[in-house]
Amino acid sequence: MSTSERISADLVICRLAQLATPGGETGQPLRGPALGNVEVHTGDMWIAAYAGEIVAVGHGHEIRDLLDLDDGAVIIDAPGLVAVPGLIDCHTHACFAGDRVDEFDQRSRGASYEEIHASGGGILSTVRATRAASQADLVTITRRHLAAMLEHGSTTIEVKSGYGLDVDTETAMLRAIQEASYDSAAHVMATYLGAHAVPEDAESADAYLKVCIDEMFAEVAEWGLSDCVDIFVERGAYDTEQARTYLEAAREHGLALRLHGDQFAEIGALDLAIELGARSIDHLEATGPEGVAKLAASDVVGVALPVAALTLGRPMPPARALADAGGIVALATDFNPGSSPCDSLPAVMHLACTQCHLSPAEALSAVTVNAAHVLGIGERAGRLRVGQRADIVLLDVPDWRYLAYRLGSEGVKHVIVEGVWALEG
Ligand code: NIG
Ligand code: FE
Repeated sequence: MSTSERISADLVICRLAQLATPGGETGQPLRGPALGNVEVHTGDMWIAAYAGEIVAVGHGHEIRDLLDLDDGAVIIDAPGLVAVPGLIDCHTHACFAGDRVDEFDQRSRGASYEEIHASGGGILSTVRATRAASQADLVTITRRHLAAMLEHGSTTIEVKSGYGLDVDTETAMLRAIQEASYDSAAHVMATYLGAHAVPEDAESADAYLKVCIDEMFAEVAEWGLSDCVDIFVERGAYDTEQARTYLEAAREHGLALRLHGDQFAEIGALDLAIELGARSIDHLEATGPEGVAKLAASDVVGVALPVAALTLGRPMPPARALADAGGIVALATDFNPGSSPCDSLPAVMHLACTQCHLSPAEALSAVTVNAAHVLGIGERAGRLRVGQRADIVLLDVPDWRYLAYRLGSEGVKHVIVEGVWALEG
């Protein structure tokens, strides 16, 4: 901080022992070797915010005397604590009814996820439970999941639909996500995942996709239920030609595009994502070196979901190779009742380090700036920097890397969302 102008503040966090934030240019992701570009500042660090936005970051002696505190300003004295940006979970399925504990039990004894899906279980069993739930039930359930994710430091959470697979239930899911967001402290962004599976009661996959295209896209776009669509491109779900039709039609409605792809087999999802300029392709457990090279040369983000790989016994996504080749890597929980029953981004960071061989700094960028980029909010979120949203996590740990290092007790002490104290641990 070099300015000597007065700075109005309604929130001040003072005397932090350490502050870690991705560097680089605001609004830009960190790609390739820059993924680990994390600035670490130590000793008496302060953060000031006003009306939900960061207005100053620096050492106490640089900032203290410049601040004009509002009446009723919140002051968090945080000696010994460590600050990182609010974490951004860019891929979850946190709106669902029921659970899949029986399936988990079956898989523990050797049944495969794909076999269970092919026999009408898996995603389709959650579709049955979700269709049987009311919108109010879905709001309650989603709210509970959002609160749990916030406790792990997630301040922005994407939530997909995709367990309705008919007009009424998909709409109810999107409205439930919206309603749950009103009283969740976290920022919530919905994605319309109409094409998550082929519904059991559909005449055909194409007939169902026609419903998504003809009835849902306009509804989603006009009512602002989501700014983005997603599709599961996989054997047993949708093929690339179906995906092309669905995604091109979504684009006509001004909706951004994402794909679940290369989870079990490379059937062309990655090429399609690049060709259509999708925001991301998520999973990538099956992506080989050629796919990594193509993705790295594009602006499509590769979203690695290491818990899904771990849970289903799949190879880890090639996050290391993608970063080394110059690509944009993000990480997310993929929180859902089947492939990823995990709501903790710090746990994902741990797996990214131990299983995918990212450094803690790379993992932090992947769950902050790069995840923000996937959601189209990189100008406002992902860094502790003047002009960004005051979404801040304070950790009671000796070093910010504990966030990835400790599995299961990452030390989240306070969570601040848009300048408001959302959680005091
Ligand atoms: O990202 N692979 C497709 N969809 C989800 C799984 C959802 C589920 O199993 O319920 C995923 O892993
Ligand atoms: Fe997913």
